[in-house]
Amino acid sequence: MKGIVFTEFLELVEDKFGLAVVDKIVEESALASGGIYTAVGTYDFSEMLSLLTHLSAHTKISIDDLLLTYAEHFFGVLASSYPGLIDKYEDPIELLSSIENHIHIEVRKIYPDAELPTFEILEKTSTSLVMIYTSSRAMYNFGLGLMNMTFAHYNSTATILLEKIKEDGTEVKFSITKN
Ligand code: HEM
Repeated sequence: MKGIVFTEFLELVEDKFGLAVVDKIVEESALASGGIYTAVGTYDFSEMLSLLTHLSAHTKISIDDLLLTYAEHFFGVLASSYPGLIDKYEDPIELLSSIENHIHIEVRKIYPDAELPTFEILEKTSTSLVMIYTSSRAMYNFGLGLMNMTFAHYNSTATILLEKIKEDGTEVKFSITKN
């Protein structure tokens, strides 16, 4: 997992819960990196899982809810770091249906070692999209947060239903309908 995902995460934890909580979860997580991340580095996903697990235990907020909030913050980071990728789209459904065949392909050119999910499109209309998220990281709620913010970016909203195809969340069906 790319360092920027860790650096932005720890910054958000510091903003919301304070530096003492950052120090505490880094210490409890016993990280190989020591909790020292550079934005362009690459670190084991298990470190993110460990940080999330300890933050969840400390705050009593579920990992799903933490990932949702984090994604809403991370969308702003992506939008300001890669405006060219987002501005290419005039519509949120067009953007979301292009993650797999354009956006994440460009991301892989920038970060060849990025660990990205796949999105398989099952149905698409001008106002709806059904796709299957697949990733060993089971960060489907991170995807949900990014989707919510994609609609917000276009001053729009959507109803998004999640259906776990695999119990562990490594395969999830998203049914998205623009409101
Ligand atoms: C992960 C880039 C849009 C879904 C990532 C990562 C990057 C990235 C850098 C981390 C990879 C790693 O740590 O190795 C971008 C850029 C975007 C974009 C530049 C737009 C300009 C989206 C959107 C979605 C999405 C709109 C909506 C569903 C995800 C998910 C992950 C991810 C769910 C977590 C990894 C996983 O589940 O396996 N993306 N992304 N991305 N992205 Fe995107």
